[in-house]
Amino acid sequence: MHYTPSPNVAELEESATIAVSARAKALRAAGRAVIDLGAGEPDFPTPTFIREAAKRALDAGATRYTLVEGIQPLREIIAARANERLGVTSVTSGDVVVSTGSKQSLFNSCFVLFGPGDEVLVPTPAWTSYYQILALARARPIAVRGHRENSLKVTPDDLTRAATPRTRGVMLNSPTNPTGAVYSLDELRAILDLAESRGWWVISDEIYREISYESEAPSLLHAVAGEASLRDRVVIVDGVAKAYAMTGWRIGWSIAPAVVARAICALQSHTTSNASTLSQHAALCALSSREQSETAIAEMVAEFRRRRDAAAALLRAACVDFIEPRGAFYLFIRVPQRGDAAEPGAAFARELLDTRDVAVVPGTAFRTPEWIRVSYAAPMDDVLEGVRRIVAQLGR
Ligand SMILES: Cc1ncc(COP(=O)(O)O)c(C=O)c1O
Repeated sequence: MHYTPSPNVAELEESATIAVSARAKALRAAGRAVIDLGAGEPDFPTPTFIREAAKRALDAGATRYTLVEGIQPLREIIAARANERLGVTSVTSGDVVVSTGSKQSLFNSCFVLFGPGDEVLVPTPAWTSYYQILALARARPIAVRGHRENSLKVTPDDLTRAATPRTRGVMLNSPTNPTGAVYSLDELRAILDLAESRGWWVISDEIYREISYESEAPSLLHAVAGEASLRDRVVIVDGVAKAYAMTGWRIGWSIAPAVVARAICALQSHTTSNASTLSQHAALCALSSREQSETAIAEMVAEFRRRRDAAAALLRAACVDFIEPRGAFYLFIRVPQRGDAAEPGAAFARELLDTRDVAVVPGTAFRTPEWIRVSYAAPMDDVLEGVRRIVAQLGR
């Protein structure tokens, strides 16, 4: 059949991270013992107490539409948690819109804030979907490369150099996918001050915030620190997927100034309406059962830390160049130039899968073609064996 894609999607690229996982699954189905280090989701089940709450909600009839923006108790607890971080009570449930995963919250935010002709700065490497979501909003993503000596994080100077009169915003993500780098409070504040002086929006994707190995990773809300005018340029995006091992439940949210939240709600009312009712109840349980959740998150983070430490020790011993991860569950490894490959990371990832049965994500997905992303959201034995094979493939 002949199909001419609509201009809306003509330039759209398939998600490279999902494509790698699909290829690894296909090879496994064909009988190959592939070690999949491409995954972007915790390899733990959703904690039992959350699953039990969902079963109870189902039996109690949580099967109908809810408000587009989500059930009131869930939005209230999201606002309450945000206020704990701010130290004031300026976030209300009216600022919160619950969506079908934080991916939809990011899409909604970009769609209502940016449009044709707008440029949005994307600290790079960055999660593959930012570039595509911005393009779908018909804005121009401007990749701003971070420096190796700063763990590939960007500084206000980097952003200033990339800015033009058409710049309207910045996409932040800390802890960062794919590097695991974490922005300090001072770094966040400096970027927020720049945004304030230029009149830019800052969308802060904090989906990995609770998976952090040193001290707590700061939220952009900490940087706002009660200054109402600063909050007026900030949209926080978060969700239950990573910290609560709830990727399949599809619950995320945005916290935005109330007028922006209303625009997001109007947009969502014509796309998906409310996020799954049952999943909202599960998320409510996750956020409100504080002690149980904190224990579950601490256990998961402890296991991620064990794997990170073991894998990083192997890489260090082999003198491999990688970013020391301080959050999330990824190792970002630099691949030396091989021949004249324009995308050394992609060439390396292909060889690795074909000859050593290890799946990783090429850095091209994050606009950094000379790197690969290795997920340690996999059992310890797989992580160690996978990293050993990567080291061998690097010729170390
Ligand atoms: C940086 C980042 N933001 C957002 C998401 C999407 O999360 P969700 O499952 O809540 O849509 C991901 C998932 O991989 C991610 O890595």
